[in-house]
Amino acid sequence: MNATGAIAAAVVPAAGRGERLGPGAPKALRDLGGVPLLVHAVRALTRSRAVGLVVVAAPADGVAEVVALLDSHGLEGKDIRVVAGGDTRQESVRLGLAAIPAEVGIVLVHDAARPLVPVEVVDAVASAVRAGAEAVVPAVPLADTVKRVEPVPGGPEPVLDTPDRATLRAVQTPQGFRRDTLAEVHAKALAEESAGSGGALPPVTDDAGLVERFGGRVVVVPGHEEAFKVTRPLDLVLAEAVLARRRAADAY
Ligand code: CTP
Ligand code: MG
Repeated sequence: MNATGAIAAAVVPAAGRGERLGPGAPKALRDLGGVPLLVHAVRALTRSRAVGLVVVAAPADGVAEVVALLDSHGLEGKDIRVVAGGDTRQESVRLGLAAIPAEVGIVLVHDAARPLVPVEVVDAVASAVRAGAEAVVPAVPLADTVKRVEPVPGGPEPVLDTPDRATLRAVQTPQGFRRDTLAEVHAKALAEESAGSGGALPPVTDDAGLVERFGGRVVVVPGHEEAFKVTRPLDLVLAEAVLARRRAADAY
């Protein structure tokens, strides 16, 4: 399949519970400056001229609610579809991907939990796929030194080693893929799960990780500090501050 020059579709996994954020609505529906996180994330994608369709994988019991929410926030004119997500992020992405028309050659996958990703990052990822990469991730250098440990609940944990920080990147979304590559690695991962193999390997936490597992080539493009993921309560405080700064600068 030739991905060159194609318009991309975006899958937005939004079916998580947001347990680390604490009690409340599913994370994607939580409020940020008067607008649900998911709406921010979908707007960020639709602002990119590279993206022609957005497929949201909603909580399975919240599909109608998410459709109504997107309509009520001025996104009714856009090509947006909502499907029921799954029990894991990987399953939600797979279900979203299955709803993308066959002729779409480039697929971006973007967490609903990254509401403030700048459109430049979306454009850069889509361009890199269009330019020929099969898998592209935006990422930023790390501020903290990282140590590998032998996990011990409650600690103390013995340190195994310290990777050279200059070679490490914190990976964000949207991640971009040739559609055939992404579909193939998700199908293989599902087959592996059904066969009960793969259990010995570490869990794969992003889509590019699946491409790596099956021998594909992933490249990194510059991410952005504002593309951080809202995971814990403090992240929501930071997101409110970033949004307030944007609104004050009238750039939002
Ligand atoms: N996600 C999903 N389906 C799942 C689990 C996660 O679509 N079964 C989505 C989340 O909605 C989120 C993204 O994957 O947009 C990244 O996951 P994460 O930050 O872990 O969100 P949650 O799983 O909701 O949070 P937690 O792990 O704290 O429960
Ligand atoms: Mg999770």
